[in-house]
Amino acid sequence: MEKIRIELTKEKKQKPADQSKLGFGNYYTDHMFIMNYDEGQGWHDPRIVPYQNIALDPAAMCLHYGQEVFEGLKAYRTKKGEILLFRPDRNMARMNKSNERLCIPEFDEEFAVEAIKELVKVDEDWIPTAEGTSLYIRPFIFAVDPHVGVHPAHHLLFVIILSPVGAYYPEGLNPVKIYVEDNYVRAVKGGIGFAKTGGNYAASLKAQDEASKQGYTQVLWLDGVERKYIEEVGTMNVFFVIDDEVITPELQGSILSGVTRMSCIDILRSWGLKVSERRLSIDEVAQAAKEGRLKEAFGSGTAAVISPIGELKWGDEVMKINNGEIGEISQKLYDNLSGIQWGDIEDTFGWTVKVK
Ligand code: COI
Repeated sequence: MEKIRIELTKEKKQKPADQSKLGFGNYYTDHMFIMNYDEGQGWHDPRIVPYQNIALDPAAMCLHYGQEVFEGLKAYRTKKGEILLFRPDRNMARMNKSNERLCIPEFDEEFAVEAIKELVKVDEDWIPTAEGTSLYIRPFIFAVDPHVGVHPAHHLLFVIILSPVGAYYPEGLNPVKIYVEDNYVRAVKGGIGFAKTGGNYAASLKAQDEASKQGYTQVLWLDGVERKYIEEVGTMNVFFVIDDEVITPELQGSILSGVTRMSCIDILRSWGLKVSERRLSIDEVAQAAKEGRLKEAFGSGTAAVISPIGELKWGDEVMKINNGEIGEISQKLYDNLSGIQWGDIEDTFGWTVKVK
């Protein structure tokens, strides 16, 4: 791959004054990475340039048929001043899996990790240092051919932007209320549910909007065929603690293979807990709740980290979980995972990658 060309900005932006009020996705840094794909040439011209608008032909295919994929990962500033990434190779591998499903040409994963490191280094003074904050990294690829016929693109852009962030949900580590969606569906096996692509999120908006009007933070998706088996929340994977078993839905094609999900499974197993990746019906969860055996529930994701679930609403049933408080396992998992990510706890798994 060619060397990354760097053009620095002449006008640095004002950084957000109060790091405790960053929220999620509200600010973007001074630079971005961009590289082109053109059929016959492959991926080429990788460059870091000042953050700027992208001009598109109104017929650009991504605008019409949604041929795009994206990823989300974070850079963390440790107390010693180092910069860490968390399992960036996993994100880039998943992005190529999404590419394969969306007919987007594969890219060199190692090169992409290098591009992320370079960009983070260029904008390193944007990495926030307040407790719980990080620099969210959003790589994405989209089709730009000016053509309103439906076919896989011959011309695409790979862009990476950076955003200093705090907690994804305003609740932070306080438990969220989740609405179990049994009307709309997000994805079906054979579809694009396992891919990180905009269409899945577009499909989720209506349900999320309706749930939020009823006071729920997110929806919990059930399988698209029987509307019975638990899938994911859309912005995170989910885990339930029933008796002494920690259960998360198995990856069967319509669920995103979360990097945080796989890390949680490894951490929980390293503590000797029984973790099952299996089919889990909403009836089983409701039954366990009735019998007082549903001890905890939480979501996991890059943006959300660990997000305890304090209440589930399914039809007329309202399940309060752990009295609406964060559970012991959720808290310990958050402390451990975030400890590794922010460099406060020794990373015995070898997951963190030092940028500098
Ligand atoms: C992430 O956790 O990185 C996500 O992509 C979730 C969301 C912000 C879409």
